[in-house]
Amino acid sequence: MMRALLLFLTLGVASAEDGLAAWLRYAPLPGVAKSEGSIPSNIVALNATTTSPVYTAGLELQKGIQGIFGKQVSITHQSIESLSTVVVGTVDAYAQEYGLDDDDTADLEADGFWLSTLNGTIQILGQNERGALYGAFEYLSMLAQGNFSQVSYISNPNAPIRWVNQWDNMDGSIERGYGGPSIFFQNGLIVNDLSRAEDYARLLASVRINGAIINNVNANASLLTPQNIAGLKRVADVFRPYGVQLGISLNFASPQLLGNLSTFDPLDASVIDWWTNITDQIYEAVPDMAGYLVKANSEGQPGPITYNRTLAQGANLFAKALQPYGGVAMFRAFVYNQLNESDWRADRANAAVQFFKDLDGQFDDNVVVQIKYGPIDFQVREPTSPLFANLLQTNTAIELEVAQEYLGQQCHLVYLAPLWKTVLDFDLKVDNQSSVVSDIISGKRFNRPLGGSAAVVNVGTNNTWLGSHLAMSNLYAYGRLAWAPTQDPEAILQDWTRLTFSRDPTVLRAITQMSMESWPAYENYSGNLGVQTLTDILYTHFGPNPQSMDNNGWGQWTRADHLTIGMDRTVSNGTGFAGQYPPEIAAMYEDPSTTPDDLLLWFHHVNYTHVLHSGKTVIQHFYDAHYNGSAVAQTFVPLWESLKGKIDDQRYNHVLFRQEYQAGHSIVWRDAISNFYHNLSGIPDTENRVGNHPWRIEAESMSLAGYKPYQVSPFEMASNYTAIVTLTNSTVGTADTTLNFPDGKYDVGVNYFDLIGGISRWDVSLNNNSIASWTGNLENVLGHAPSIYLDGHSATRKTIRGVQVKKGDVLKIVGTPNGIEPAPLDYVVFLPEGVLD
Ligand code: GCU
Repeated sequence: MMRALLLFLTLGVASAEDGLAAWLRYAPLPGVAKSEGSIPSNIVALNATTTSPVYTAGLELQKGIQGIFGKQVSITHQSIESLSTVVVGTVDAYAQEYGLDDDDTADLEADGFWLSTLNGTIQILGQNERGALYGAFEYLSMLAQGNFSQVSYISNPNAPIRWVNQWDNMDGSIERGYGGPSIFFQNGLIVNDLSRAEDYARLLASVRINGAIINNVNANASLLTPQNIAGLKRVADVFRPYGVQLGISLNFASPQLLGNLSTFDPLDASVIDWWTNITDQIYEAVPDMAGYLVKANSEGQPGPITYNRTLAQGANLFAKALQPYGGVAMFRAFVYNQLNESDWRADRANAAVQFFKDLDGQFDDNVVVQIKYGPIDFQVREPTSPLFANLLQTNTAIELEVAQEYLGQQCHLVYLAPLWKTVLDFDLKVDNQSSVVSDIISGKRFNRPLGGSAAVVNVGTNNTWLGSHLAMSNLYAYGRLAWAPTQDPEAILQDWTRLTFSRDPTVLRAITQMSMESWPAYENYSGNLGVQTLTDILYTHFGPNPQSMDNNGWGQWTRADHLTIGMDRTVSNGTGFAGQYPPEIAAMYEDPSTTPDDLLLWFHHVNYTHVLHSGKTVIQHFYDAHYNGSAVAQTFVPLWESLKGKIDDQRYNHVLFRQEYQAGHSIVWRDAISNFYHNLSGIPDTENRVGNHPWRIEAESMSLAGYKPYQVSPFEMASNYTAIVTLTNSTVGTADTTLNFPDGKYDVGVNYFDLIGGISRWDVSLNNNSIASWTGNLENVLGHAPSIYLDGHSATRKTIRGVQVKKGDVLKIVGTPNGIEPAPLDYVVFLPEGVLD
């Protein structure tokens, strides 16, 4: 037994892992002898205060060295004379203890660190305590990846603000949360057990995130009760050793909602007093609080405009209360009004510049205007928000979304770093000078004192954090890019993969390929050519529903009719949005011939027969992209399967389940979007794929007992517009048919609908021999926003692989309804090798 265990440990065979350790597993490094010179024997952490990030760095180094090398190393808090020592501390502490050659560290900026592994001693010196911890994590990341190179360098952040925004509600739910309930809140209060909050702070610190807003931007004023302020203190206490500063979202009307004042007018003296007083109370409890985040006059939230005050006056109200404490007021630029689509010149994309441009110069120095990367709302592709080019005397930060709200809700693999890079690297050419977004948000371009980035993150109590192991690459990459936006997304991904899964080249290759292909694939099968995600914007934001975009006031329009599609955002004939960019960029977007294909429909209203730079027509591009994108999503399954045995079974199976789900749902997307535009335009697919399904058997064409046909709406969510449902919620349904396919081996796909509100059962047999049974329990397993309808969110494909079929075999599906779920079935498809239908 003992020998078996030892063998197990030395071979580094993967044992079950639940994902909680994320990329901080410190897994044993196979093949490195304990005696290797590069393994430290002592840790000197130059701070003995347990709440200091330097102290944390000592513990983290100890833990990492133990995990990676199996070596117990002791920590001291003052200098010792010994070889193979890791010394971690601030530059100042080090200089006092050892003396220092200033040249090495002279260029350090706040939160930056110096790392040197030369000459046997490891020096990790932070400009501040947080920086020292970051350096320790950097060194451990090298070791965990088996990188023993001799290095000595400094690393400074691109920008001072590197925050996450949790959209956690005080009842414990999370807005756009797909990884379980909140780790911070429950029943209106801060939870007692903050161990997950502490683990989260550790993860954040390891990627150099220095601030976390923990409650939803749609904020509840009751966060500011004395009991909850005491709770905030507890959160800040567990964050502090990791150098993560706590921040909170505020409800602008709190003086009225909580303080019983008759007004929340930002210029009213009683309102100003109220906020000053609350801020004093919070800083008494949390002296190092990062600041506030405010969503005002946006999507029904209260704000200064209610009192005819400007957004700047609203923002400055908080800035002034925070100023004595060095706190920052993050003020969101996500302000827009409902619009009427019959007005050709109306455009939600115009709103942010219209609301904010004239306020440039009026914001206090500790206000940062937080701007979503694109002008609408976290779509699969958007042009860079032009507001970045219109605020030259205002601090700005970019808002990204790790939460995959419009991007598959952590049930589709979508590695987001390449998407973010399209914006971070974009040169807006303000005043004809290089004006790259990452230099604007850092403050460098316009010489601003503050700026940076925020990302909406939806970690929850699920042990995988985000509900999906692979989605964690997005949180990791966010931190890495917030620190250094010029880094290569693929290199970041590979560090993450080595740390999270394995250094095995096969693992690295497969995960790199899947992840790097994932955003293009998702864009292809959701919404291409800049038309936006084409998801259901009125309901769950998950599955396809192209017509939900139009004929409502939300302004995410496509303006698709039977001849044309796209938003005309030109100055000459459209909404004028293109003119919000500096001249060179504006000119590029004004003209379809210089607009990149991937944003054509964002800027132009064209015929379906318009010919792209690629040489294809718009409509043929739609068909091809949707077929190609979903074909790529199929390949993620065998790629992942090639890793069996190279990853622990627990994570392997968890990911495999999701990849199979994505493969099936990508076909739902493909068919819905292709059918919708095929139907609308009447233009055939030159490849004759759309509407042509030779390998399918529609459920409604089978012999039915206890089942009846059901017209699905929107029509394109079901093959042949029709599904079947059981006659009542308690009748068992049977659908059978005699097969007429050539003898052979097939993968059998069964398309069904999995609704919330019931767990039906499907039993599939061939000649009465069972080939598969499953239940409709995805609402408990997947985490995406569920649906109570037969629609693009609930539509699912189950694939039964390698089924031997003979002509004349009888296929039977028995559907047992449950709750409101009437065992709905759409079609069955028999796929010979190499066919995808
Ligand atoms: C999106 C999202 C909302 C969120 C809003 C925001 O519209 O769907 O849930 O509140 O953005 O960013 O404030």
